[in-house]
Amino acid sequence: MNPFDLPEMPAGFVWGAATAAYQIEGAVAEDGRGDSIWDTFCRRPGVIAGGGSGAVACDSYHRWRDDVDLLDGLGVDAYRFSVAWPRVLPAGHGAVNRAGLDHYDRLVDALCERGIRPFVTLYHWDLPQALEDEGGWRSRDTAERFADYAAVVAGRLGDRAGDWITLNEPYVSAIAGYAEGRHAPGAREGHGALAAAHHLLVGHGLAVEALRSVRPQARVGITLNLSPAVPATATAADEAAANRMDLLLNRQFTDPVLGGTYPDGFERLYAGVSDLSFRRPGDLELIGAPLDFLGVNYYYRIHAADVPYEQSDPVKRTANDIGVRSAPRPGVPLTDLGWPIEPQGLYDTLTGLAGRYPGLPPVYVTENGVAEVRDDPGADPARIRFVAEHLAAAARAVTDAGVDLRGYFYWSLIDNFEWARGYGPRFGLAHVDYSTGTRTPRASYHWLREQLTLRTQK
Ligand code: FCB
Repeated sequence: MNPFDLPEMPAGFVWGAATAAYQIEGAVAEDGRGDSIWDTFCRRPGVIAGGGSGAVACDSYHRWRDDVDLLDGLGVDAYRFSVAWPRVLPAGHGAVNRAGLDHYDRLVDALCERGIRPFVTLYHWDLPQALEDEGGWRSRDTAERFADYAAVVAGRLGDRAGDWITLNEPYVSAIAGYAEGRHAPGAREGHGALAAAHHLLVGHGLAVEALRSVRPQARVGITLNLSPAVPATATAADEAAANRMDLLLNRQFTDPVLGGTYPDGFERLYAGVSDLSFRRPGDLELIGAPLDFLGVNYYYRIHAADVPYEQSDPVKRTANDIGVRSAPRPGVPLTDLGWPIEPQGLYDTLTGLAGRYPGLPPVYVTENGVAEVRDDPGADPARIRFVAEHLAAAARAVTDAGVDLRGYFYWSLIDNFEWARGYGPRFGLAHVDYSTGTRTPRASYHWLREQLTLRTQK
């Protein structure tokens, strides 16, 4: 077998590609869309590399037919895209903006016509600014508003779209957004960030209920970004650091969602930062309600090293400040973004989930991909190897541990606005010329197309 051939996957395996609204749509002031926290955040000087924003991005709001053509040409089974909450409910709640919903309605129709299964993500980080002004995810009310929004979207699209992802990466929303301040809304808080993480999960639970009541046949899941935390050395200090990282990044989310519990040691870890008073009776039942699937985004694993920190200084501490630094790994290849390329981390993530959570639902890899920081419309030397190696690791997790893996979505179909990193990193199977909007399939696109064609001929 050629090392770049895709491995055998279980029957019915779903091959797909993914994008997200704010990263591709542009048209931020069109047809009644309200501001999101990303529109506001991008206006702050210095927060986005190159000073860009998603105001135009790939102009997919107008060029969505090009995107559907790309998907069709690629031969994928499914497309994971997200709906922009502020297009549908410009103030976050209240009046529904029909024109905004019409956009997704047309997209879903076009996908179905080509036999491409829509996977709809309801929240990929673009909170309506009006809700942030009322407290954002620090506030439990936002979770209630999210469920109302979910019901509106499912009411309109759910006759054709059967697969629903409530949240994308609540860790990043909460920690990058409310603790590190490097993502919208740019806050640097301890208690507020932990409250945001919890309320995102409450919002997930309420949205699951709302989706199922509007569309009883819907298949509903959540997408978590998971990174195994490996101790940088065998010292007890680094092992403890890896455990703290695991609590913050992975188990803060997987334990409530998949196990219906709060992770052991979490209260102790944050003793000086938050009393966790946002937790209410009944929340765990809501958050831990059985799901139809789990979405896993995997990019890299973390080599965690201990750094001295002061548990007693709650003023300085934010929720991400837990005395851990990411240690470099000599000999491990890095992407252009400096992310270690370790497919073994995907294997460990999948097998680890199956080992820890007995009732683990079917899993989709909802994102995995590599960026190159070079503006080349044709060649993308790192990408084919990256995808092939990660799929091989995923296939081993199926064979070795019986993980019920149902699909894989490459991030991303097209180059797009990479949040605080701006337009430099290019993740796309197709290149985007941002001055013209032209999409050009790269070598990896042609490779994947050929691989998918071979499979259908078998
Ligand atoms: C993930 C995000 C996605 C994209 C990739 C590179 O964390 O979900 O929007 O930015 O990283």
